[in-house]
Amino acid sequence: MQSKAVVCKNLRKDFGKGEDAVKVLRGVDFQVNYGEMTFLVGPSGCGKTTLLSVVAGLLNPTAGDLAVLDADIAKLHSSEAVLFRRKNLGFVFQQFNLLPALTAAENAAVPLLAAGWSRKPAVEKAVVLLRDLGLGERAHAKPNQLSGGQQQRVAFARALIHEPRLLVCDEPTSALDAETGHHVMELLRKSAVRADRAVLVVTHDSRIYNFADRIAYMNDGLITRIEEQQNAA
Ligand SMILES: Nc1ncnc2c1ncn2[C@@H]1O[C@H](COP(=O)(O)OP(=O)(O)OP(=O)(O)O)[C@@H](O)[C@H]1O
Ligand SMILES: [Mg+2]
Repeated sequence: MQSKAVVCKNLRKDFGKGEDAVKVLRGVDFQVNYGEMTFLVGPSGCGKTTLLSVVAGLLNPTAGDLAVLDADIAKLHSSEAVLFRRKNLGFVFQQFNLLPALTAAENAAVPLLAAGWSRKPAVEKAVVLLRDLGLGERAHAKPNQLSGGQQQRVAFARALIHEPRLLVCDEPTSALDAETGHHVMELLRKSAVRADRAVLVVTHDSRIYNFADRIAYMNDGLITRIEEQQNAA
């Protein structure tokens, strides 16, 4: 069988314990294929961010199996898991989580610095990527000097810069106008959809559905339907 970028089997996540437990993931069966962009859509509160956070290793599942890039995440020691994530995963969160004291380019360079690059080449690579994202002029501005959509593109650059094998994005175009959103998704397809890579995107933005190879519909803590799109943009 062809290996998968992500495999979730009967994945459960409760917040809290006992009678007060909130059951948010209620037995998710779900896969992400290599070489594809998979979208996860569904109503607010159905568990999309929770599922992304579990897949990305930011939350531990309550029960079930999870394999990410052929690694059984639960079997890694926590320090190994941190290194594995740092090297192989990129995230764009619903909140952009930029570091306020760093410039746009320094923020985007953080994954390279964490991987041991020296500052100058890391920041230079970040500036090139920011230029591709239409932010060349703002590369040396601090986050509080940037608009929401500009900050979101810095978060994108940070997620892409180390060429992660799995890119996980939560509402990546929420702060972008249609044209910029389209451009960012094109860049994402070009750089992150490769035979040995995969992208998982949570979105409410129907303007970008045409970029998906596969759309997984989520409702009330379960994946209810998966739709393949033959002609992804
Ligand atoms: N730490 C937490 N403790 C308790 N409940 C939580 C926690 N985090 C999330 N929830 C609940 O889990 C449910 C799913 O939340 P989640 O953030 O995954 O939804 P979502 O599908 O991403 O929604 P949105 O589209 O609004 O971002 C919600 O009812 C939320 O209140
Ligand atoms: Mg969410």
